[in-house]
Amino acid sequence: MNKNKIIIFDTTLRDGEQTPGASLNVNEKLKIAFQLERLGVDVIEAGFPRTSPGDLEAVKTVGKHLKKPVICGLARATKQDIDDAYKALKSAKKPRIHVFLATSKIHRQYKLKKAKEEILKTSVDAVKYARKKVSDIEFSPEDASRTELDFLAKVVEEVIKAGATTVNIPDTVGYAVPQEFGSTIKYLTETVPNINKAVISAHCHNDLGLGVSNSLAAVLNGARQIECTINGLGERAGNAALEEVVMAINMRKDIFGKMSTNIKTKELYKTSKLVSKLTGIMPQPNKAIIGENAFSHEAGIHQDGVMKKRVTYEIIRPQDVGFKGSKLVLGKLSGRHAFSQRLKELGYELTDRELNQAFTRFKELADKKPKIFDEDLATIVEDELATVTERYKLLNFQVTSGKNLKPLATIELKDGREKLNVTATGDGPIDACFKTLDKACGVKGRLIDYKVSAVTSGKDALGEASVKIKFKDSVIIGRGSSTDVIEASIIAYMNAINRFLLRAEKLKGKKGKKKK
Ligand code: KIV
Ligand code: ZN
Repeated sequence: MNKNKIIIFDTTLRDGEQTPGASLNVNEKLKIAFQLERLGVDVIEAGFPRTSPGDLEAVKTVGKHLKKPVICGLARATKQDIDDAYKALKSAKKPRIHVFLATSKIHRQYKLKKAKEEILKTSVDAVKYARKKVSDIEFSPEDASRTELDFLAKVVEEVIKAGATTVNIPDTVGYAVPQEFGSTIKYLTETVPNINKAVISAHCHNDLGLGVSNSLAAVLNGARQIECTINGLGERAGNAALEEVVMAINMRKDIFGKMSTNIKTKELYKTSKLVSKLTGIMPQPNKAIIGENAFSHEAGIHQDGVMKKRVTYEIIRPQDVGFKGSKLVLGKLSGRHAFSQRLKELGYELTDRELNQAFTRFKELADKKPKIFDEDLATIVEDELATVTERYKLLNFQVTSGKNLKPLATIELKDGREKLNVTATGDGPIDACFKTLDKACGVKGRLIDYKVSAVTSGKDALGEASVKIKFKDSVIIGRGSSTDVIEASIIAYMNAINRFLLRAEKLKGKKGKKKK
């Protein structure tokens, strides 16, 4: 093993899926996993099999289809969890079981009500048990950064003796600061006698906005695996963002020396877009590396500087992370070949079925909008890839509204084979549409957030709508695009309803099992 190689462990499909509002079905997870493979991640944590049949199925499916990366399933330190993880990973080419148990005083006292000795024994027994099933075992002492250092070192030493090949040090609640977290890693490398028998990993949450900084401090002090997520998704404030740790290591050779990752950075932008489409969670515009503003220069002095010499204000070349500016590419008369050729150039690999559907949408769009840009194509394809298993499909709609008129919407939907035709009024045309959809689908949604933005410039630009809706206790995000913003809004709202119904089904299958 090259001592300068930093293993990139992506947990978008597990910790990332724990982002409030994000929920992915098996197909969606598989699509993201294929893209992560193209991106070059070394390990994909595909789920937590014990928590639901859906998660078990997702880990199994990802393991069955992907050949290059290690596929990992999470398990608590119990036989049932490890058995389920193994069941999910049995047909994976390179399976890894990731066992975790909390070690900090706070967790021992209040959550687990267990003494140190019992925690140590349970950890060792669980690793030994998992090791009988697969040879690649990762152990995480949860809340490691708030664990007494001597106890943490003892747990690390014993789980390595028991067979752990990777020891992950989680900053579970994002409490650590870089100097302190780096020192913890250094302490472990210096005091644990058998530390060279395992890879040390960092898993940093972003509660203080330090997830990336802590991960980088960890590698500078001996860690060789970073656990991270695309767009920094994850529980609460999220995890360290993959694109940020990778680009920091790439850009700052003066600090990181010969350290490198296997990530193909030109795939970063596309991966980010796919994940935001499928989870429904858009990164903020000023998000580093992949945010919309990451490469735009607003101030005149900056624009002038960049024109004279790019490096004056731009440290990363946009194309190096796969960011492409607006480019007029196709129009109404473009054929299927030109369409599929341009998609290939943009790096999209579609199945014949996906290509046919995307081409139909392209033709519909080209009828309404003569100039089609790369961003339009990306939106069409990502919409195609992002389609959730939809119970309800939009067939038609009509909306009337005006001064002194009560807004009225009529929407025709398909529910399996059945056609529904429902009408409702509302406070405005969009509200009337949303109320009609609630009535048709038998749900009651409360709109928390609603945004419409243009994908490209021009009056005929494709509009993208995003809605955040509260259904009972769930907050769900939905997205849709069309040249007609009312249609985009209806699609977005329906996307949220379909996601909510899917999630409700998934939760039903959990049979009382809880996610951590
Ligand atoms: O944040 C955390 O501690 C985790 C562990 C399961 C690694 O996600
Ligand atoms: Zn975590």
